[in-house]
Amino acid sequence: MSWSTILPLFLLVTFCSKIQVLEKTPMIVAHRGASASAPENTLASFRMGFAEGADRIEGDFRITADGRVVCIHDETTARTAGESGSLVVKDTEYSRLNALDVGSWKGPRFKDERIVSLEEVLAIVPPTGGVVIELKGPSSVARPAAEIVKASGIGPDRISFIAFDAETLAEVKRAAPDYPTWYLSGFKQDKQTGKWTPEVEELLATAKRINADGLDLKAMPEVIDETFVAAIRRAGLAWHVWTVNDPSVARRMVELGVDSITTDIPGKMRAALADSQ
Ligand code: G3P
Ligand code: CA
Repeated sequence: MSWSTILPLFLLVTFCSKIQVLEKTPMIVAHRGASASAPENTLASFRMGFAEGADRIEGDFRITADGRVVCIHDETTARTAGESGSLVVKDTEYSRLNALDVGSWKGPRFKDERIVSLEEVLAIVPPTGGVVIELKGPSSVARPAAEIVKASGIGPDRISFIAFDAETLAEVKRAAPDYPTWYLSGFKQDKQTGKWTPEVEELLATAKRINADGLDLKAMPEVIDETFVAAIRRAGLAWHVWTVNDPSVARRMVELGVDSITTDIPGKMRAALADSQ
């Protein structure tokens, strides 16, 4: 074969492999915003997430005593507002929660950060950005959250719902069928047998029962391998992982073809993945 035949073939193969690598780049999701640098689940953290180049932000949402959907991870405000301001979110009205300072624990410059509503979070999403909305208990948050999202004008291509509680996710799907739902799960190891659960078959059965569009799994290379992922794909589901701050774990997930990586360090993670291409 002559050089004039080999060279174009070589260039074509190089070009195609580059495209394959580019296609594999997953979405970067800023976990509770850029939560390594800013107070989690606040507007400052979400803005920073997008500024660092995240495709989407992930936030945790709960229902208040007066039926508002607010952004906070824990059942109470103790960890982020301080013990003295500790309130149980589901038993407290939005106005009281919104008056708390949930930024200072991360540094004095964040003293004006508040517990905000889902509407306020959606209002700061840039035109090409998206949100992964995690619904925490009680499950009565599902329908109001779905209605707020539908009214926001942000489409199903930019918003998805996640929850560890399968019934919460099932309710979202009934209320907002067009929006993707990804069923969340971690893994536990039996000390005696060494076996990890839930197994992929169980996760797929739950996803099918609640009509979920994907799985959002704790990124554990010791559990998730080619066979595991092939089963997810055969079921026609999307596959996402959380919460990855170690680039070597992220690279393994990328190698397996993950659709998104949720991380506390969106800027650094994107740079680390770009470096390895
Ligand atoms: O993205 C999913 C992840 O956020 C679940 O864990 O505790 O940070 O809400 P957690
Ligand atoms: Ca979360």
